[in-house]
Amino acid sequence: MPASAPYKILIAAQGEEQRWKEAMTARLPDATIYTQDENYDPAEIDFAMLWKQPQGMMKSLANVRGIFSLGAGVEHVLSAPFLPKNVPIVRLEDAGMAQQMVEYHTYAALHFMRDFDHYMRSQNNGDWHPRDVAEIGHFRVGVMGLGALGATVATHLSNMGFAVSGWSRRMKAIEGVTTFAGAETLDEFLGQTDILICLLPRTGQTEGLLDSARLSKLPANAAIINASRGAMIVEEDLLRLLDTGHLRGAFLDVAVNEPLPSSHPFWNHPKIRLTPHIAAATRIGPAVDQIAENISRIDKGETPIGLVDLNIGY
Ligand code: NDP
Ligand code: OXD
Repeated sequence: MPASAPYKILIAAQGEEQRWKEAMTARLPDATIYTQDENYDPAEIDFAMLWKQPQGMMKSLANVRGIFSLGAGVEHVLSAPFLPKNVPIVRLEDAGMAQQMVEYHTYAALHFMRDFDHYMRSQNNGDWHPRDVAEIGHFRVGVMGLGALGATVATHLSNMGFAVSGWSRRMKAIEGVTTFAGAETLDEFLGQTDILICLLPRTGQTEGLLDSARLSKLPANAAIINASRGAMIVEEDLLRLLDTGHLRGAFLDVAVNEPLPSSHPFWNHPKIRLTPHIAAATRIGPAVDQIAENISRIDKGETPIGLVDLNIGY
């Protein structure tokens, strides 16, 4: 099929459908693109572009040939009922998000390295007392997840001068980064980490991974930055370790329940900085380019970029 084949594409994107439709129409002018609230015949849909789609939507997509997540995370697709069998499930790889993750984690890592958490409290107390400035190379940053986003963040922080290590499922070689792989190395990795960055995908293996036992392996006074998924951390355990003083602070972009309920203890905790899931937003331009390229790859029987391995869940 030629690159501009008359595909039928369905978009469900939590109210953002029109923007995606315009961008995709400009990229594939011969395709017919439907938003979820338009009339379409589900049996005719070739490809679906989804972000937190309505429950049950997959059931009628009898002839779909590829499903694209409109984010880096794909758990909203994998956990959907009636997920079609033997259809490639594809996530976005980078699509403009790696640079934003670099910005977010640079800010958050410097927040702890330069004692801004301490000086925020000093300001509230009217206290003007300088501390010695730490040497960046003595600050050990550990990045959990060395994929499209984690590896880029690790490399950048290493180039800035932090002492960076990283942890992944399979062994990785990244210049300037000391790498660890597999569950059996997790305690050792955590034990040498002053600032823990979590950039893992949400899977059966990673959910609840950072519980009291694991967080206690971090050295006293360590800090944590989580911009992956809230479910990675057991929230009560994090609060307990912040309150007992074992952990110095947390910089959180995600929570188990989003939007964070107004009664949640994270809101007013003096050691927690919160942002509302903004660490990295999908950039529509690079995203539609990647999806169009992947449609063409699927047509040609090639492996799409960001193909999800259903056996491991990411
Ligand atoms: P990738 O799939 O590219 O990378 C995932 C990394 O995690 C890989 O290095 C992988 O190891 C590692 N990993 C997965 N499971 C395990 C495990 N059980 N033990 C050890 N390591 C594991 O994902 P991305 O970098 O693209 O994205 C990461 C996550 O960031 C997304 O899934 C999403 O949840 C989150 N995100 C958050 C955003 C926000 O705004 N807050 C925006 C975008 C993404 P290996 O390399 O060996 O496969
Ligand atoms: C993503 C996200 O996974 O925005 O892309 O969280």
